Amino acid sequence: MCGIVGAIAQRNVGNILITGLKRLEYRGYDSAGVALLNDKGITRVRRQGKVAGLEDAVTEVSAAGFIGVAHTRWATHGKPSEANAHPHMSGSDLALVHNGIIENFQELKDELQSQGYEFTSQTDTEVIVHLLHQVLETGVDLFGAVQQVVKKLDGAYALGVIHKSEPDKLIAVRSGSPLVIGLGIDENYIASDQLALLPVTNRFIFLEEGDQAEISIDGVRIVDADGDSVVREAHEFDGTHEDAEKGEYRHYMQKEIFEQPAAIQKTLEDRIDSPADLIKAFGEKAPAIFDQVKTVQIVACGTSYHAGMVARYWLEDIAGIPCQVEVASEFRYRKHVVPEGTLFVTISQSGETADTLAALRDTQSPNYVGRLAICNVDSSSLVRESELVFLTKAGPEIGVASTKAFTTQLAGLLMMVLALGRQKGLADSEIEKVLAEMRQLPNLIEQAASLDKPIEKLSEHFVEKHHALFLGRGVQFPVALEGALKLKEISYIHAEAYAAGELKHGPLALVDSDMPVVSVAPNDELLEKLKSNLQEVRARGGELYVFADKNAHVKEGEGIHVLNMPAVPETIAPIVYTVPLQLLSYHVAVLRGTDVDQPRNLAKSVTVE
Ligand code: G6P
Repeated sequence: MCGIVGAIAQRNVGNILITGLKRLEYRGYDSAGVALLNDKGITRVRRQGKVAGLEDAVTEVSAAGFIGVAHTRWATHGKPSEANAHPHMSGSDLALVHNGIIENFQELKDELQSQGYEFTSQTDTEVIVHLLHQVLETGVDLFGAVQQVVKKLDGAYALGVIHKSEPDKLIAVRSGSPLVIGLGIDENYIASDQLALLPVTNRFIFLEEGDQAEISIDGVRIVDADGDSVVREAHEFDGTHEDAEKGEYRHYMQKEIFEQPAAIQKTLEDRIDSPADLIKAFGEKAPAIFDQVKTVQIVACGTSYHAGMVARYWLEDIAGIPCQVEVASEFRYRKHVVPEGTLFVTISQSGETADTLAALRDTQSPNYVGRLAICNVDSSSLVRESELVFLTKAGPEIGVASTKAFTTQLAGLLMMVLALGRQKGLADSEIEKVLAEMRQLPNLIEQAASLDKPIEKLSEHFVEKHHALFLGRGVQFPVALEGALKLKEISYIHAEAYAAGELKHGPLALVDSDMPVVSVAPNDELLEKLKSNLQEVRARGGELYVFADKNAHVKEGEGIHVLNMPAVPETIAPIVYTVPLQLLSYHVAVLRGTDVDQPRNLAKSVTVE
């Protein structure tokens, strides 16, 4: 989704802004722009398309400034176009960038238009900049004007503002959309994600909801939503600049697939030494809260939702705890009955997904005993607003299609299942058995990823296809769903997943020689049933691609392509079997020449509804 970068320094900040925008490209966007202020005034440059195009345009007009704001836009109000791209201006002295949505923009716009303001875009953002202009006309300074204007705005927003007559001030606001301040030496910055600023600093202040900041080269003044001065602590980024680089890999997604053994290792390290240790990773309040849990409600979006679906099988099977899983965008808008003793669990890579956050904020029922966030970003809203937190340690995930975040979420969820199960009397011997299996995960994932070459070869079969079916049974059904999601996200091939037992209730009608059918077949209790389902496909001429346990005896034959997976213990199989499906969609997408890391129309972090 939209990205913000801003900087104030004693040197030209153009490069900092463009580099920052490039580092935010992964979030998904359709246009980009920058406003730079120097002694002569503000130069604004905007372009539809990629940041590289904007960079060329900035060089062409020699735009430079010691203070500036920049933006990548993911269209919500108004089509992707140069006129709708940020920064937006009111007159020639005031420039503003905005993430989020202003819900009451239409009434504000009507009022401003009746007062003579002319709008040059279809965006909701433009009302903010004109409102600011209006207040500034009354003689208030920029920071004061921003504080007045935000009171009129409904919705979610993060803002960056500069003004010609106060060239030593960069104003930032956070309300419902993330924004961090980066601290440099005699220069400071803002960004919607700290990753944008890692080339220039590793020290950050995370603004709280409602905070407004006035930033100069040597200081930061912050007021909270009530206008009271506050001090927010600075934090050092835990990681290296290179964590967010592509390195030797062709795409971030490829790098992130191969990082999974290390990501899982880091997520589990020092956390699964013994059954009694497990609960520590969920926070100090976990023992008291887990004790009261009778049922679990999981809410998430996209890939994180699929992780929740896997957890449901584990929770009911291993811990005997009932579990409901729902996509956040549905859950938040329907009336639901909350059973007594419900643990509310959100799962999110970014911790900023608008629907997931909204669902969390709507958990007032006293029947909730606690809120647990399983999340990859320590500084995120979801983490800050949940009393229990399990941090996945996947490191920055840049590819829009989630990979290592998913498998580390699964590792965390399995720990949660064991920790909850233990509170409910699950024997330590049983838990120890699963922990021993979990310790094999990095190695098993590495073995699964070593099938890369044969999978690349197999992917040639999919390049010309328009549709694909994914089948799985039991806990592998969500894995099949995730496989289908990956394929459609990055290769744009229409893909559906079914619980294999449902095949004959509809999707079998679609099967012919043009429909590749992908199946995951670990050596579990449902294997024989799955084999029958595969026969049903074969009998209709469907071409089968089976990722099978080497001991499962699924035979290669005409129309049946088998890739042998390592022998994997049943409980952890969903984590390991995800890997070949990620690789399959990756290679199909590369062959089809799509934008693997930034697939069309999608965003990494969906911060609007
Ligand atoms: C977007 C991303 C998906 C992700 C989903 C949920 O749709 O493209 O990859 O699974 O959001 O994101 P979250 O950060 O909450 O896990």
